[in-house]
Formats: sequence, structure tokens, C-alpha cells
Amino acid sequence: MQKIIIDTDPGIDDALAILLALAAKDELEVIALTTVNGNVGIDKVTKNALKILEIAGKNVIPVYKGNAKPLMRKSGHCEEYHGDDGLGNLGFGDCCRGDCQKEYAVDFLVRKVKAETGEITLVAIGPLTNVAEAVQRDSEFAQSVKELIIMGGAEYEGNMSPHAEFNFWTDPEAAKIVFSAGFKKVTMVGLEATSYAFLSPALRELLYLINTPVSRFIYEITRVYADGNWNMKRELGCRLCDVLTIVYLLNRDVVKTVDAFVDIETQGLCDGASVVYRTKRYPDKKKNCEIAVKADAKGFFEIFFGYLFPEYLNIVKELLNGKEEV
Ligand code: BDR
Ligand code: CA
Repeated sequence: MQKIIIDTDPGIDDALAILLALAAKDELEVIALTTVNGNVGIDKVTKNALKILEIAGKNVIPVYKGNAKPLMRKSGHCEEYHGDDGLGNLGFGDCCRGDCQKEYAVDFLVRKVKAETGEITLVAIGPLTNVAEAVQRDSEFAQSVKELIIMGGAEYEGNMSPHAEFNFWTDPEAAKIVFSAGFKKVTMVGLEATSYAFLSPALRELLYLINTPVSRFIYEITRVYADGNWNMKRELGCRLCDVLTIVYLLNRDVVKTVDAFVDIETQGLCDGASVVYRTKRYPDKKKNCEIAVKADAKGFFEIFFGYLFPEYLNIVKELLNGKEEV
């Protein structure tokens, strides 16, 4: 059993990542969700986190509210992909019953990681503001985290500028602090790898037909996400970026990684870009992480559906093998 804390800005793909982690109850113990400003503002992402837990029937898991803005900048959000409320504009965030904890997310992170040194894997799927503040607050924090898995960055092409990916672009100073903090094991799951985590219209339709509260929730919230993708790129479907971090935790073989030294640009034309030196190519650079370079798309969806809707796994396999008629 791996103990994890998910630092998140839900966010449509965040919601799916959280639901998958909760479904993998024999492998992952989700200790808490900590929220951070990102896709939408802090109050909305915190409500959304509570709502996702409610939909999964897991209200007992605590939610801690974190930073309302990046370390040094104004916040920029991503409503055009996630909707004004962060969950596809369906009113989900408005009607949750639970409440978040009183303790500030960074205080919680520092306290919990210290209390369980070497035990907790941190999965960061929003801007890295909370993680960077924890590093600044406690000089032993980075060394005390068992493993840090980040969705963010890109080796070649960003989604907010030609080089910068949204999570790092939102708070580049935070990302820079995190990559130089000396975490024992870091994996950067960036845009090159998440391009393989692509929900096709056929798989999305299957979610509708599965017809459970969770499958219909996923089907509905991914509507705005797929629309955003169509409007920006004329692509049918949507990319489930954050979900790949959880799939990686569940099966390391689905993601191919290479050793790298990563630094973050914090100004100029490439502001927010992750600068990736593969250490095989640049042996003078000291490795500070592994970067995900590609993923097995079939393996990804077999895990996603296999944990969330196991009785449909055979249909998913047929769809993935190109048999559209089932
Ligand atoms: C990342 O940005 C956000 O919009 C998503 O939730 C994901 O964490 C992808 O660039
Ligand atoms: Ca996210």
C-alpha cells in the first residue's frame, strides 16, 4: 500500500486522477487532498475537491486549502478548458456537503511529512506553489518525502506558450524551487507523455453508456474539456494529463522515463519553460529527476477503466484494438 497526498487544482483531469486514485483502494491510501490556485481560483478548486470526494463516497478524506496565488505573480487561470467553475460549468462545485479543514495546506504538508518521514508520496498535479512553500518552510521537507510525482512541464512544446506548460507557467518560481530542492526521487510527467493519455470520443461515449453516477460525472465534465480541445486544436477528444501520474504509480511499466536535469526559466520569451537536459546527452549535469517521455496508451486506459469500471474492461480492450462494433 502506497500512502499518497494529492496536491491539486481541480480541474477536470484532476477530478479523474483523484477518482482513479480512490478506486485503487488496495494499492493507494489517499491520506488527503491539498488544494492550490490553478485551473480556477482557490475557493472553487477547494469546493471541487470536496465534491469529487462526495461523488466517490469518500468524504472522510480531508481536504486542506492552500495557496490562493503563485509565490510572486498574479494568478492566471484556465477557464477555457475547465469551465468557469473548474468542473465543466455543470454546477457540481456549488452543491457539496462537506467542508475543508481549518489547517492551512502547507502547514499540513510539513506536519504530516515530518510525522511520517520517508513514507509519503506526494503527487502534485497543479502549480507547485504549495510544494515550494513547504520546501521553504522546512529544510528537511524535500528529503522527508518518499517520492514526488509532478504533472507539469514539457521537454519540447508547451500548451501556454511555445515552451511553457500550464502548471509551471502559472508559478515558474515555485517550480524552480522544487526542482532544486533535493527531493530523493522526482518524476516529471510532462506533455510529451500525457499526449498518450487521450480520451477518444468512443471511450467517452462508453462512459455515458456505463451509466453509473461516476461514469456519467466523468462523461459530463469532459464535455467542456473536449470542446476546449476542439476550439484550440480541432482535435476530437481530450487529454487526461493529470491521470497519468496516478497510472504511473499503479504500473510503472506504462510510462517510459529517462534521467534528466531540469531547471525552470522564470523570465523572458521562454518564461515558465522547463529546460530539460537528458543526462545521457549532458553527462556533466547532475540528475535531479526522471522525465516521462512516452506512455503506453492501451495500458493507460486498461488501468483507468480496469480500476474504475472493471466489468467493462473487455469492451475497452476491443475498442483500443480498433473494433468499434461491440
Ligand atoms: C495541466 O494544466 C491543467 O490545466 C491541467 O489540470 C493539468 O494539470 C496540463 O498542462
Ligand atoms: Ca491540474
